[in-house]
Amino acid sequence: MIKLHAMLQRQVSLRSLNTFGFDISAMLFAEIAEIEQLNSIWKTNLLTQSSPLILGGGSNIVFTGDYPGLILRNCFSGINISHQTAEHVYLTCGGGEPWHTVVMHAVQHNWGGLENMSLIPGTMGAAPIQNIGAYGAELKDVFESLRAFDMLAGKMISMHAKDCRFGYRDSIFKQEGKGRYFITEVTLRLSKNPVVNVKYGDIATTLDNWKINKPGIADVSRAVIHIRQSKLPDPSVLGNCGSFFKNPVISATQAAAITKQFPDAKCFEQPDGGVKIAAGWLIEKGGWKGFRRGDAGVHEKQALVLVNYGNATGKDIISLAREIVEDIRIKFGIELEMEVNSR
Ligand code: EPU
Repeated sequence: MIKLHAMLQRQVSLRSLNTFGFDISAMLFAEIAEIEQLNSIWKTNLLTQSSPLILGGGSNIVFTGDYPGLILRNCFSGINISHQTAEHVYLTCGGGEPWHTVVMHAVQHNWGGLENMSLIPGTMGAAPIQNIGAYGAELKDVFESLRAFDMLAGKMISMHAKDCRFGYRDSIFKQEGKGRYFITEVTLRLSKNPVVNVKYGDIATTLDNWKINKPGIADVSRAVIHIRQSKLPDPSVLGNCGSFFKNPVISATQAAAITKQFPDAKCFEQPDGGVKIAAGWLIEKGGWKGFRRGDAGVHEKQALVLVNYGNATGKDIISLAREIVEDIRIKFGIELEMEVNSR
């Protein structure tokens, strides 16, 4: 049994552990890299008493103040082939591995499936929570299974894709399973004969500009990195959490009315008949792009990203977000929903 006092720290600064860079702290904090540590903590009452929060890369969370409970940082490591078939490599990755490290590992081995999701901040264990995605790919397309510690039942469990109920930036881990599971490892199903996906306009344009007409996955990865770096602020330079809101899905009727009024509206028809409208476009059209109040602002190149210019607090960011939501509701009759979590 691992001794609790050797694991738990008090009043730990989270400034470098949240990509908004808020200067806040956790009342109790532990770095977890072994299942035995979770068992030890579970045998105390800490997990039920102290509202534990699992932290990955801190890239999708707004802390609105000091965290009054226990924070468990996911530090499970390792990237290993679990098994292979003629077509696929099944790669098992520790929940604390940086997502982009896993992507680069796959690209270097020419295993396809992750390249469109290059440079997404955060960790492997956080990826299933919001079913991360970018440039025409989503985690669920390559997800095989995960292992997690169930903090309610106090035991390890396995989950397959259907158990996770993945949706657009959504999963069971944001719904009824919220806060319950500590994801220790994820197994991805990667292709040994990759077929590139360059349907997303920006990728095709970038590869065209580079005069690459038969791209491999390394080219796609480079293109995605290039696009992201040109639009999205680097959290180590300017605090942010990527997209702050989800792209809302509205009815075809409402989309038709908006497109009539604004022919440049960015609308994408969905298989179920709904229409996804770009929240970045709505926020820009609402006049918010580049807006700044104090140190809280709306990024000047991507209006879906809220930024901390230095000393903004989580409360400043949330109050700006609320103002934007209200304004978009009034101007377009559309309710924006936050993509990031707030605590
Ligand atoms: N747009 C504007 N103004 C803006 C921002 C965007 O008019 O300020 C327009 C763009 O011109 C484009 C459309 O809106 O026509 C979509 O923009 P973009 O391609 O930049 O993607 P997004 O919908 O804003 C989503 C994801 C991103 C992901 C990109 C690329 C969500 C909430 N966000 O953004 O994911 O990188 O697509 O696939 O789905 C994240 O989740 O943190 C994230 C960065």
